[in-house]
Amino acid sequence: MEVQTAEFIISNSDVNKCPVGNIPEYAFIGRSNVGKSSLINMLTGRRKLAMTSATPGKTLLINHFLINRKWYLVDLPGYGYAQRGKQQQKEIKKIIEDYILEREQMTNLFVLIDIRLEPQKIDVEFIEWLGENGVPFSIIFTKADKISSSARQGNVKRFLDTLREQWEELPPYFISSSVSRDGREEILSFIDQINKSL
Ligand code: GTP
Ligand code: MG
Repeated sequence: MEVQTAEFIISNSDVNKCPVGNIPEYAFIGRSNVGKSSLINMLTGRRKLAMTSATPGKTLLINHFLINRKWYLVDLPGYGYAQRGKQQQKEIKKIIEDYILEREQMTNLFVLIDIRLEPQKIDVEFIEWLGENGVPFSIIFTKADKISSSARQGNVKRFLDTLREQWEELPPYFISSSVSRDGREEILSFIDQINKSL
């Protein structure tokens, strides 16, 4: 699928103020700094569409980007950034949870996992929470350029094995890099397939 247009529409902290209408949307979630905003830029081919930073905690709001005037990519704040104050952590958690549980237009949630790390409790628990709430999701392993291809395979297998302890069926998953652009075609055609099935 070609990305012809990518437009920033709105940022806000309240799911009730997100764009109205029935345009399907695809949201990106994961720990702070995992590469959500970078991936949105990589997929759209617009280097500065979503704001990124080497410091965790950059994205603090729900950001809607309209693609090809037909569907949205949604950049969400990250979870699990301990340096945030208690109050801000609580606020961010509420923004994320309200969006995920209440946003009916959200067709698929991409959960981003840093491919370099062994399975992190916070990610595994978050995915369990999605299951308990019946949220449609898939997984994107990020930063594939940072490790060798054998380490990639080993880490992906370890993560999937961990999920298998809780899940009978595994979600779709992708391996990506915002630097090498690995995974771009696969992720865009996955979105395209869902769009066509709606
Ligand atoms: P928050 O908005 O803070 O939750 O973070 P985020 O998940 O949006 O991460 P962001 O895209 O801002 O990226 C965090 C850092 O990781 C930046 O310094 C990026 O340049 C870097 N980064 C993101 N994706 C990749 C990747 O695929 N490869 C490499 N090498 N670096 C990446
Ligand atoms: Mg971000």
